[in-house]
Amino acid sequence: MCGIVGVVGHSEAAPLLLGGLRRLEYRGYDSAGIATLINGHIGRRRAEGKLKNLAAVLKADPLAGTTGIGHTRWATHGAPTVDNAHPHATSRVAVVHNGIIENHLTLRAELEAKGQSFSTETDTEVVAQLVDYLLQQGMAPIEAASQAFTRLEGAYALALIFAGHQDLVIGAQSGAPLAVGYGAEEMYLGSDALALAPLTREIAYLEDGDWVVVTSKGAVFHNRTGAEVTRQKKLTALTGAAIGKGNFRHFMEKELHEHPVVIGDVLHRMLEAETPRLPALPFDLAGIQRITMSACGSAFYAGLTAKFWLENLARVPVEADVASEFRYRAPPLDAGGLGLLVSQSGETADTLAALRYMKAEGQKILSVLNVPESTMARESHAILETIAGPEIGVASTKAFTAQLTVLAVFALALAQAKGQQSPAEISRLAASLLEVPARAAEILGNDAPIRRLAERIAEARDVLYLGRGGCFPIAMEGALKLKEISYIHAEGYAAGEMKHGPIALIDKSVPVIAICPSGPLFEKTASNLQEAAARGGQIVVFSDEEGASKLAPIAAETILLPSIDPFAAPILLAIPVQMLAYHVAVLKGTDVDQPRNLAKSVTVE
Ligand code: F6R
Repeated sequence: MCGIVGVVGHSEAAPLLLGGLRRLEYRGYDSAGIATLINGHIGRRRAEGKLKNLAAVLKADPLAGTTGIGHTRWATHGAPTVDNAHPHATSRVAVVHNGIIENHLTLRAELEAKGQSFSTETDTEVVAQLVDYLLQQGMAPIEAASQAFTRLEGAYALALIFAGHQDLVIGAQSGAPLAVGYGAEEMYLGSDALALAPLTREIAYLEDGDWVVVTSKGAVFHNRTGAEVTRQKKLTALTGAAIGKGNFRHFMEKELHEHPVVIGDVLHRMLEAETPRLPALPFDLAGIQRITMSACGSAFYAGLTAKFWLENLARVPVEADVASEFRYRAPPLDAGGLGLLVSQSGETADTLAALRYMKAEGQKILSVLNVPESTMARESHAILETIAGPEIGVASTKAFTAQLTVLAVFALALAQAKGQQSPAEISRLAASLLEVPARAAEILGNDAPIRRLAERIAEARDVLYLGRGGCFPIAMEGALKLKEISYIHAEGYAAGEMKHGPIALIDKSVPVIAICPSGPLFEKTASNLQEAAARGGQIVVFSDEEGASKLAPIAAETILLPSIDPFAAPILLAIPVQMLAYHVAVLKGTDVDQPRNLAKSVTVE
């Protein structure tokens, strides 16, 4: 889940590489580095921590050269120190790597026995040392690199430059994405099209097992067997426009404020006069008998909410599992089912592996994605785009509500195709979705009560979030978001499960946040809250006027929300829950947009 860029051409490489890394920083920000060729020699600058530290190093000690590679790291093997930062280099070769070389210990032992001396603890250095060793045996760079690739096990995207070879960068992909960008007498490599967007819109993606020889004149692709292959150039829709925070303090705050527009855009695209309108799908919706859903983190919670909608409205059974468990549980799947994957980035390693497993089991693959150029998009039979735009804050906000909105419309479309709901009911439910953007804007425009509540929550050591039905995943989303950005321990629980364990946690110091809009499950949730209140828990109610007035006797705090149909409530209630986490994090002074230890796109399992 690190980010890679490379350039070979005639422009100063360092500023280009730094610009590309800036757009990839969402992939990790433990350390960063670049290497270029200066008069045939490899020069390197690296820094611990955020990219701004590398920029400062480069300002103090610039790096010339027109061929180079760059890296932003999310540490896997080895602490996030300067020594462990990429590029890893010998005097002959420099390497940047995204992924994990699983057989690095075996290779290291073999290379050490042959006299190569290592200077870091990282798995990546074995690639540099292996290529270095092969170069010393008299191989030319292309031969040495391609031989080395056959020895590597694990997942990787790599870019290499070679001392004395000014017009050459070699890239390789196996389980982690890599794209080649075409410029004028200048060529690029990048982990994704976003990294290259300011430089070019002409992109070709490597396929798994591919390696590519890039010079300023073009790129020659080879597959796993070494045979030359063609990889098609595509025009990416991404623009190089700088993504700014506008007048907001953080990207997360800006992205929270984008909820109404993003949800509105999805509905505009997916509803026509209160009737679902899906893009043409290469399978028949009415024929779907079973759905298997998999995803990670917030995206999984969006999928869990969809399970509730799909089973309730379309009466189609949905199996749901986090991708990291699903892929190794390897459940048998009846051919002809639908595999439903949810991912903002479309690159999450476990979700991608779940997709591939489902495909191998004969499922039709439908992915809900925010990046239509991602690996998952390329490997799915069909995609539903969340069109949330780039999400820079590491904690997902608008992408999550966009996923929910897409999935809600998909559930309606399936219910309609299967004849499980009357046209009038479909229109009524669609109309409730159309209310969400305006109600979301109301919540965003009145955040003073949420800020006040944040002061109380910021003091807590543990927080419990409770919900039922479609709001149970929203409780989990609330807890995840609080943990992620404010570092306060929080749990999201099904309200009815509380008395089977978590109730033991409850005392005066534990806020119990109830996500409980009016609706069929309200009374049941209310009884669970009574049980928590009886044990001294501080009950915090997120509900509409009707629900809030019923819970007033036991509520220590209430966040009054606009009323909405229970079908659309999970989408609307996700917003104040995210806002609360944001305000708590601001009060605690954490790094809201780039919380510690996290990365936006998790391309390692
Ligand atoms: C939480 C968050 C993560 C992601 C998860 C999956 O705020 O952002 O839990 O939802 O890493 O990422 P994608 O959606 O890119 O597959």
